[in-house]
Amino acid sequence: MSTELDLVIRNADVVTASDRFSCDIGVRDGRIAVLGHGLPRGAREMDASGLLALPGGVDGHCHLDQPMPDGMRMADDFFTGTRAAICGGTTTVIPFAAQEKGGSLKAAVADYHRRAEGRAVADYGFHLIVADPTPDVLKHELPELIRQGYTSFKVYMTYDDLKLSDREMLDVLDVAKQNNALVMVHAENADCISWLTEKLVGEGRISPRFHGLSRPAAVEREATHRAITFAELVDVPILIVHVSGKEAIEQIRWAQSRGLQILAETCPQYLYLTAEDMGLQGDDGYEGAKCVCSPPPRDPENQAAVWRALAGGVFSVFSSDHAPFNYDDPEGKKLGGQAQPFDHIPNGVPGIETRLPLLFDGVARGKLSLHQFVELTSYRPARLYGLYPRKGTIAVGADADITLWDPERRVRITNDALHHAVDYTPYEGIEVTGWPVHCFSRGEMLVENGKYREPAPGRGQFLPAGAPSLV
Ligand code: URP
Ligand code: ZN
Ligand code: ZN
Repeated sequence: MSTELDLVIRNADVVTASDRFSCDIGVRDGRIAVLGHGLPRGAREMDASGLLALPGGVDGHCHLDQPMPDGMRMADDFFTGTRAAICGGTTTVIPFAAQEKGGSLKAAVADYHRRAEGRAVADYGFHLIVADPTPDVLKHELPELIRQGYTSFKVYMTYDDLKLSDREMLDVLDVAKQNNALVMVHAENADCISWLTEKLVGEGRISPRFHGLSRPAAVEREATHRAITFAELVDVPILIVHVSGKEAIEQIRWAQSRGLQILAETCPQYLYLTAEDMGLQGDDGYEGAKCVCSPPPRDPENQAAVWRALAGGVFSVFSSDHAPFNYDDPEGKKLGGQAQPFDHIPNGVPGIETRLPLLFDGVARGKLSLHQFVELTSYRPARLYGLYPRKGTIAVGADADITLWDPERRVRITNDALHHAVDYTPYEGIEVTGWPVHCFSRGEMLVENGKYREPAPGRGQFLPAGAPSLV
């Protein structure tokens, strides 16, 4: 084996979740081999003067090529989705292998591997979605899959084709407890939503902005509290995903103050979008469909509460919840080729490439520290989802997943410049400070000076997950 370094990144200003130091980074066989000064010449050299060297991002919640009900299709598969991730500084993604009601979880995992193989450019793990916790799933499939490296799974308290009853939630949480796995919870009250939706639709209030009125904060607050109660009863940690604002935050903070292990995630849409992006009062146009996601974006006061909770340690992870539906597409937001009543619009917004720059702008504006940025976007998701220390840090032995950031570069986000396959971004026109200019995955330079270098589809590796580390 050659002892020559494959790559040396010189004069790196390294920032991890806990430390900041200047050094050269020596890479061999895809891993960080040495951190030090005056390293010998490598086969490839890179000068990082003036740039920050951060661990590649880990996006712990995104949807890529997820099988959809008839007529709907996600615009991004594993190739375009991971290409966009890499161009936004994210080197690891964790999308969802989703069980269908009446279907097998193992079969969903096998199908999802087929979708990823030969396509992914970034490394990837899988979460599971448990939609039908039959006795066989609870007793056999789930424990076996956990042992094989699928140690986190999402459950839904809403959506007819996915939601679990309270009793089923308790059963799934119990399996997580017995097998040391982590349950991610989509917390919204299904009956309240369907009751409100029927009323709104009955009154003819069907344009996109009514999506927000059908899922008010109270609906999320109640389900968040109920999920916390289930976790307390079963005595198991949970992670509440895509928290939208202060009412759910209050529940989570309350649980955390009582010593319960309630973890939480938020996403860019709750920092940058509001209900008005789905349509102003009196606006019955359809453009607002672009920002329809669940829970829905709220208002500036809630945005401020989410920023404060990020800085204050309420959240463990900041994910994209990238849900890539085209706008002008009969398989996307204009389902069947036409404007839909709000309750038929595919839910979710794209954001896998813009996740990190949008949060980094908060660092530039003094809203959170660089260490918090790394912790929320790379270190904690790597730990929670069993990928640390291979991912989530810059340390000897870790994969050489490194993003070099220009902290001063100002960029106006435009969909034309993004690398996903979606025909819009909800963040069009927003100007951010700080941009990931070079990106390495296992030592391979995939983005140079902001330019994607067309690495081979399929270079991304599947990452079986270890046990969750909660701190
Ligand atoms: O609206 C959203 N968030 N769609 C994606 C699926 C989910 O619930 O995360
Ligand atoms: Zn969800
Ligand atoms: Zn999601």
